[in-house]
Amino acid sequence: MSQPTITVQKASNSRIDQVDFDNLVFGNVFSDHMFECDYKDGKWQNPTIKPYGPLTMYPSAKVFHYGQAVFEGMKAFKDDNGKVFLFRPADNLNRINKSSHRMAIPEFPEDLFFDGLTELLKLDREWVKPGLGNSLYIRPFVIATQNGVSASPSTEYKFMIILSPAQAYYTGDVKVMIAEKFSRAADGGVGYAKAAGNYGAQFYPTNLAREKGFQQIIWTDANEHKYLEEAGTMNIFFRINDQLVTAPNNDRILDGITRKSLIKLAEREGVGVEVRQVSIAEIVEAAKDGSLKEIFGAGTAAVISPVSAFSYNDTVYTLPVMEHSFAKKFKSLLMNIQYNLAEDMYGWRYAID
Ligand code: COI
Repeated sequence: MSQPTITVQKASNSRIDQVDFDNLVFGNVFSDHMFECDYKDGKWQNPTIKPYGPLTMYPSAKVFHYGQAVFEGMKAFKDDNGKVFLFRPADNLNRINKSSHRMAIPEFPEDLFFDGLTELLKLDREWVKPGLGNSLYIRPFVIATQNGVSASPSTEYKFMIILSPAQAYYTGDVKVMIAEKFSRAADGGVGYAKAAGNYGAQFYPTNLAREKGFQQIIWTDANEHKYLEEAGTMNIFFRINDQLVTAPNNDRILDGITRKSLIKLAEREGVGVEVRQVSIAEIVEAAKDGSLKEIFGAGTAAVISPVSAFSYNDTVYTLPVMEHSFAKKFKSLLMNIQYNLAEDMYGWRYAID
């Protein structure tokens, strides 16, 4: 089947001069254009790049009632010569299609994804600022647009990509609370998918944790609350002595692209990574005997974020401040690849022009 041509409507004026790129709050500002493509009559059609702006939808659109929605998080980086790169974008496409499959949403075609994304980035390339730490956060998403409140999958969808210039996701220390009552995901559920509701369902327990001074929750297995699984917007790694430990992927845990890149980089650096169940008891014990050196989260938005303390059962355990932390080392190795400052040994960079 031939691919539909992308229609481009350019914004008459750029808003870029109104943006303070040195003081960005994550996810608050959006670039001049967005990509939109509709699914109707069994096919994706009318791919369009147009000025970023509001959507007009009926209140009966299914996404409002049943949360049939999935999303992705990606970033574009600019090197010192002004070249723009994505990081492992095919993995994001595969993952959004995996998420869509689980949510009974039709998959989005590969050619259209790459063409739409590269066209959009070329148009808004000035929004990608050079310099380590600056990036353009890319948010592809799909929503169910069919009108009707019968509880059944929509027959119509909208696939979109919006772009948001970004710096750090977390500013300052991240303190986490281990989940003892609430759960994020269960066996057979949608935990591995980037389904919108997975994130919305975390807001209430996370608010309770915030009231106590913790930014994030480390989610535990829903059956027993015994094993550490994922930290809200990030996968989670523990450093015990000089060994890293992280939970295995399963149907409760997001198959993080930063996570798997980190595992690869650690192997290359000769740092052992055990991918296995991590029990709370083990981590509490390691915190007490001093063998727990670091905890850090890994995710596209947050990159690698060190955790300074965790709380469990009303006790706060503070992590030591490491002079040569793995978090810093691996963040730097990863970013050097992303910003075209190091050899791309695994073919992770994807040049857009
Ligand atoms: C990402 O890292 O891209 C995420 O999905 C985090 C997002 C919920 C802010």
